[in-house]
Amino acid sequence: MRALRAQPLLQRGRFFSTTFPEIKKVGVVGLGLMGHGIAQTAAEKGFEVVAIESESRFLDSGMARIEASVKKLGEKAVKKGKMSAEDAEAAATATLGRISPSLDRAVFAECDVIVEAVIEDLALKKPLYEDIGRVVKDTCIIASNTSSLAIHKMGAFSGRPAQMVGLHFFNPVQLMQLVEVVRTDQTDPALFQGAMGFAKALGKTPVECIDTEGFVVNRLLVPYLIEAMALVDRGVASAPDVDVAMKLGAGHPMGPIQLADYIGLDTIHNIISGWVAEFPDNPSFQVPASLKAKVDAGQLGRKTGQGYYKWEGDKLAA
Ligand code: 3HC
Repeated sequence: MRALRAQPLLQRGRFFSTTFPEIKKVGVVGLGLMGHGIAQTAAEKGFEVVAIESESRFLDSGMARIEASVKKLGEKAVKKGKMSAEDAEAAATATLGRISPSLDRAVFAECDVIVEAVIEDLALKKPLYEDIGRVVKDTCIIASNTSSLAIHKMGAFSGRPAQMVGLHFFNPVQLMQLVEVVRTDQTDPALFQGAMGFAKALGKTPVECIDTEGFVVNRLLVPYLIEAMALVDRGVASAPDVDVAMKLGAGHPMGPIQLADYIGLDTIHNIISGWVAEFPDNPSFQVPASLKAKVDAGQLGRKTGQGYYKWEGDKLAA
């Protein structure tokens, strides 16, 4: 089925398309590493956001992350002379004021888009999608930020496969420009264009992709990260030298070992283990010994302060 070419008209905090209803309220489920960035980005662009979590401690930690990031971006804008300190403070207050934290899944009924960013566990996602499917409007875009699970499975859980898309953001969401917008065989074409327009309204550049393992970026990136770890395991070069090599020799902003630590070694391990199980004959898919050892030891990279490198917050330890 060919997608309809809608002519979207973007306005701050709203998305209109000639073929799709207006988007005003955005639900973000899960305020972790990705979800907090998605909620923040939507609020910065003027959307009304409900941030939904299963426990109040997760809401608190997610909101604290958003506050820290909003403050940092504001300070940076002031330092670069892009904004006065007063304007930065007013913008931060307005952004935070647009986000309503909630523990109640009934709010799904009010949302025009829902972006799910909970952990990559289908057993956990299934009841969530069942709840979403029970209450949402028939025009609500239901999106998963999954990096490795099949979008059509979530569509089936919701009982609303025509409303299901992937909206795959990149870490850190606040700074990375790309969103992969993923359609299944059953995604409604007009709704898909609505999702493309929403990604643009967030200030991102969307690319279209079909529902396939790793979409575009992770399908290329994860085997590269894995090969870099295997190369270190084989003693070809040290982790810092591999990183320097790819930064200075290939112009990457971060080397592959640092990037794996930055993303989270558990995330990389989850993705690659799933692919090894599903495609045992593909030689690009392997679990390097050092990756398994680090995950088993709870050394997950930036988020635990130790992975292939030591970390202090978002930066490598000196
Ligand atoms: N909010 C606010 N500020 C942030 C931030 C956030 N979430 N994250 C970083 N910053 C700040 C930094 O603290 C820094 O501030 P400072 O200048 O005051 O110290 C500033 O942004 C810029 O950071 P850097 O000085 O480190 O500048 P860089 O030019 O290196 O930019 C980067 C940082 C954008 C992260 C860059 O290193 C980069 O592009 N790295 C690669 C990231 C990447 O590949 N991401 C994709 C991962 S794959 C993925 O997410 C898919 C998933 O499914 C696995």
